[in-house]
Amino acid sequence: MKRERIISGESASPAEENGFLSLRPSHLDDYIGQRELCDKLRLSIEAARRRAEPHEHVLFYGPPGLGKTTLAQILAKEMEANIISSSGPTLTRSGDLMGILTNLGRGDLLFIDEIHRLNPVVEEFLYPALEDFKVEFLIDKGAFSRAINMPLKQFTLVGATTRAGLLSAPLRDRFGILHHIDFYSDEELAEVVTRSAGLLDLEIEPEAALVIGRRSRGTPRVANRLLRRVRDYTEVKGDGAISRMIAEKALDVEGIDSVGLDKLDRDYLKVIINYYNGGPVGQEAIATTLNEENDTLVDLVEPYLLKIGFLQRTRQGRIATEKSYRHLGIKKGEQPNQQESLF
Ligand code: ADE
Repeated sequence: MKRERIISGESASPAEENGFLSLRPSHLDDYIGQRELCDKLRLSIEAARRRAEPHEHVLFYGPPGLGKTTLAQILAKEMEANIISSSGPTLTRSGDLMGILTNLGRGDLLFIDEIHRLNPVVEEFLYPALEDFKVEFLIDKGAFSRAINMPLKQFTLVGATTRAGLLSAPLRDRFGILHHIDFYSDEELAEVVTRSAGLLDLEIEPEAALVIGRRSRGTPRVANRLLRRVRDYTEVKGDGAISRMIAEKALDVEGIDSVGLDKLDRDYLKVIINYYNGGPVGQEAIATTLNEENDTLVDLVEPYLLKIGFLQRTRQGRIATEKSYRHLGIKKGEQPNQQESLF
């Protein structure tokens, strides 16, 4: 089952990306949060520029919606390089990748999103390209088969993944630089909201920006999405500036609670509590009970619940913590009200 979630960290739709004004920062100096990462990136960019060399291959890893694509675009901009974007699942054949690689100029940046989903054959084809800037391919078959080496221009691969653990060791080792992107603080998200409101020509009170920040589950993409929902609400029901009360009301209407959980997050926790006595329970059992895809839960539900201490992941399975009981107003050991649905 595929549910629409405005707080999903999944990529924005093309309409959201292109039909509206882009809220992505295009320079490191405009980037909010991830201070340490930005400092390191600033240094590696400056060093490469001084040597007049292309930047090293970089891997960004972390939960969806935290800025991996934005950082790749910023890297290209700061290096004054062209960027060509692709993704693991769309590069199905070595021929597709060869076409891209042989057309790259020196210093160009190739961005591969969801790089953990590269087909193993395509991945292997990429190794010599990354290490020695050449591709090897076979011509002819059987006794006449010969390997042809084709040199490439020195390019920069930027990989992005939500699942660093699924990346093969040989691929991971070919990245000179690995950057982990973590969830943002509420205050950083409030800053993102304030910046975006400025770009959208909206007036917003600082407390309203903080309300949106707190409910954005550590994720700038969610913050921008919530801001757009609050804007709609304000335009119809409000009187100009976005106040704290308007922001709270607008997000309550969307079913997003005080810590940023939506119905799917709450259902997930209620399944563990009401069906499995609080856990431990295997992740697949939860997915089946919820009629939800495993990947959705692993990528888009669990990371934030783990981060805010509502969920524990143990060898025996998932456990709902004391905090999640308190948040949902459920007493431990209490029988669920059979009159209501269990989740
Ligand atoms: N928009 C989305 N993410 C952002 C960030 N990290 N900094 C500034 N604006 C953003």
